[in-house]
Amino acid sequence: VPAGGFVIAIDGPSGTGKSTVARRVAGRLGAGYLDTGAMYRIVTLAVLRSGVDPADDAAVAALLPTVDLVTPTDPDAQRHRLGDVDVSDEIRGQHVTLAVTPVSANPAVRAFLKQRQQDIAHSGRMVVEGRDIGTVIAPDATLKIYLTADAQERARRRHGQNRSVAAHAGQDLAAVALDLQRRDSHDQARTHAPLQAAEDAVLVDSSTLEAHETVSHILRLASERGIR
Ligand code: DC
Repeated sequence: VPAGGFVIAIDGPSGTGKSTVARRVAGRLGAGYLDTGAMYRIVTLAVLRSGVDPADDAAVAALLPTVDLVTPTDPDAQRHRLGDVDVSDEIRGQHVTLAVTPVSANPAVRAFLKQRQQDIAHSGRMVVEGRDIGTVIAPDATLKIYLTADAQERARRRHGQNRSVAAHAGQDLAAVALDLQRRDSHDQARTHAPLQAAEDAVLVDSSTLEAHETVSHILRLASERGIR
């Protein structure tokens, strides 16, 4: 990390408001923002497009050298590209959300993304969001947050978000809750870099907090660690 640089790691399960909060924290600090989940989604989209079975680890690994992903770090301009094509909306679709679970459990995929994520995370003032940032990608992070919220509240939030995504239109709250449960239990149970709080992470329960309150809380914790 260059002088004056820092890493704020924000991990946790789906639907906690992690992305909104991480992006706003970065904006307030004039820092960069890295959405590692989007990187797993882009690789997954490349897998689906190639016709390879997302659960075939060897075939997915063989495809990786051809995956040309562009990762934005401006919190106010999050456009994701695969090759020359803007795939920002497509990576939020349901086909990607389903297939990302086996792809993100593939150790070759994790190794492929780890190097890029570490290079970006350690390039200056960065807020990095994911599942394994505090444990694997940046164990030396200046501040580690593990963001949680109770399951019902997370489903409610994700359901609200999904209404603006065409691919999820019509999906009811129960289906969203089930999908979150499916993804979280897979993320927690996988062998490589499972979702878990780092020992030195600060647990933040956002169940009863508005996004701006969670942001203020994290900024206070950051300030206590000399980040401002
Ligand atoms: O945060 P998200 O829902 O966009 O993440 C998509 C998937 O990628 C999620 O199901 C778990 C996986 N993921 C991961 O394994 N490690 C990360 N650092 C980020 C996401």
